[in-house]
Amino acid sequence: MKSKNINKILIVDFGSQVTQLIARQVRELGVYCELINFKKFNKFKTFDKNIKGIILSGGPKSTLSKSAPNIKWKLFLNKLPLLGICYGHQLISNICGGKTKYSNKKEFGSAILIEKKKSKLTEGFFTNKKNTVWMSHSDSVMIKPKNFNVIASSKNSKFAILENKGKKIFTTQFHPEVFHTNNGKKLFSNFLFKICKIKKNWTEKYKLQKLIKEIRDNVGPNQKVMCALSGGVDSSVLAHLLHKAIKKNLICVYVDTGLMRQGETKEVINIFKKKFKNSFTAVNAQKNFLNKLKNISDPEKKRKIIGKTFIKIFEKFTKNKKNITFLAQGTLYPDLIESKSFSGSPTSIIKSHHNVGGLPKNMKFKLIEPFKEMFKDEVRKLGNLLKVNNFLINRHPFPGPGLAIRIPGPIDKKKVEILQKADKIFIDELKKRKLYEKIWQAFAVLLPVKSVGVMGDARTYEFVCALRAVTSQDGMTANYYYFKHSDLSEISNKIVNEVPGINRVVYDTTSKPPGTIEWE
Ligand code: XMP
Repeated sequence: MKSKNINKILIVDFGSQVTQLIARQVRELGVYCELINFKKFNKFKTFDKNIKGIILSGGPKSTLSKSAPNIKWKLFLNKLPLLGICYGHQLISNICGGKTKYSNKKEFGSAILIEKKKSKLTEGFFTNKKNTVWMSHSDSVMIKPKNFNVIASSKNSKFAILENKGKKIFTTQFHPEVFHTNNGKKLFSNFLFKICKIKKNWTEKYKLQKLIKEIRDNVGPNQKVMCALSGGVDSSVLAHLLHKAIKKNLICVYVDTGLMRQGETKEVINIFKKKFKNSFTAVNAQKNFLNKLKNISDPEKKRKIIGKTFIKIFEKFTKNKKNITFLAQGTLYPDLIESKSFSGSPTSIIKSHHNVGGLPKNMKFKLIEPFKEMFKDEVRKLGNLLKVNNFLINRHPFPGPGLAIRIPGPIDKKKVEILQKADKIFIDELKKRKLYEKIWQAFAVLLPVKSVGVMGDARTYEFVCALRAVTSQDGMTANYYYFKHSDLSEISNKIVNEVPGINRVVYDTTSKPPGTIEWE
C-alpha cells in the first residue's frame, strides 16, 4: 500500500487535544488522511496533487497572542477546499480580513446552533434548522471577513459557521469532530465527498497492510524487536501484528511489576507461552518496582519512576543478547496527547503516560509504536482482523503503571493486596451482572484516607475504597456509569464484608472532562 500515491486530506494540527478525532472521522468515512503540525505545513514549497482538501484543527492558543501559530497558505489558497475548526475558524477569519476578539461570552460545552443559510457543508446536518454542538472557546470572530456568508449562529457566536462559497472555504467555531456534537460526521462527509470530491480509498484491511509494510521497512532482516507485552488490549494486538510482520525476529517480554490485577500474571503467562512459545519471556520485577516507589506520593514522579524502571529492566534483559535494536510499545494516541504534543504543536500536558512522558531521555532502544495515531477501539478492530483471542481484545483497558496510580499517596505491598481483592470483587460482580461489556473501564481505587466504622459492635478504622466505572468511545472523553442503586449497594457491601482493610466504599461520579479516568 503506497500511501504517498493515494488521494488524501491533510489535517494541520495547532495543538488541540482532539485533533486526532478529526483524523478518526475522516478515516471512519473511508478516506486516507495525514496529520502534520503547522510548522511543517509552513515549510511546504511544492503543491502535492494528491491532497484534495485541508482541515485546520483547533488549538489551545489565542489567535490574539503574539506567539499564536500562523500558517503560510498562499500555496494552497484558491486551489483546495479548506475547513477551519475553532482556532482554524478564527485564524482563517483573521487572514481573510475578519477580526477575532476576546469575548466575555465564552462557550464551553454544549450549545444550540441555529441555521441561517443553506450550505453544501451542512446538508442533512440540521433538524428543523437546529443542532446541538460542542464548543470550547474564549475568543470569538466579531467581524466576519468580506465575501463570507453566515451559515449558522449560536447564542454566543454570531458567526458559528462561515462560508466563502467561491473559494470553497468553510469554518466552524464548534468542534464537529467530537462525540458530543450531534451529526458531526455528516458535516465531514459533506466536506469530503461533496466539496473535496475525494473518493473512498481507506479500510481497516489497508491499515493493517500499511502497518505491516512499515514495520518490515523499518526492521532490517538481522534486527530484532522486543515487544513490551503487558497482556492488555494494545500490547496484545501489537504482539500479534509484529508476529505477522517479522515472525522470528520478535521477542515478547512480560514484566510482572507486582502492580497487576489479581491473578493477571498467571493468565497472561499461560496465554502467551502457548502462543509465542520460546519468543515469550516473563520477568519478575515485583521487588524492584515496590522499592523504587517507596514513599513516593507525587503522581508524576510515580509515572516517571515506573517508565524508567521498565526501560532499565528491558536493557538488563537484552544485555547479552544480540541485535535487539527496537522496543515496540502499544502506545495509543490518547497516551501521547496527554503526555506531550503529538506533532510538535503547543498541546497542554495532562499526565505523563508511563510509555511516553515517563521514558528516560538516553534510552538505547529505537521505538516502534504502530498505534500512536490510533484509538483503542480502532486497535480492537485490528485485533479482530489479526484474530487475537476475544478475551484479550475485549478486556477493559489497564494502564501500564498498574495499581500504582490507583493508590493515591505512598504505595506498599499491603495496600496493593487490599486493592487487588476489592478490584477483583468489583469486576467479578460486573461480569456476574452482565454489566462488564456495557462499561468501557471499571476499577477500584484505594484512597489514602481512613474512616471510622462499626462492625460486630466494634469500632473499625480502615481505608476508603472508591469505585470508578465509565462509558466512553475512545478514552478521550468519558461519562460515569449510571448503576442501579441495588447493584452499587450490593457490590459495596460485598467489598466491605470480604476485604480486610476496607470499611467504606464510595462511587466516583465525575466525567472526563473535568476529571480524568484514572485518579492519578
Ligand atoms: P486518563 O486517566 O488519562 O486515562 O483519563 C485514559 C486511558 O488511558 C489509560 N492510562 C494509561 N495507559 N499508561 C497506559 O498504558 C499510562 O501511563 C496510562 N495512564 C492512563 C487509562 O487507564 C484510561 O484507559
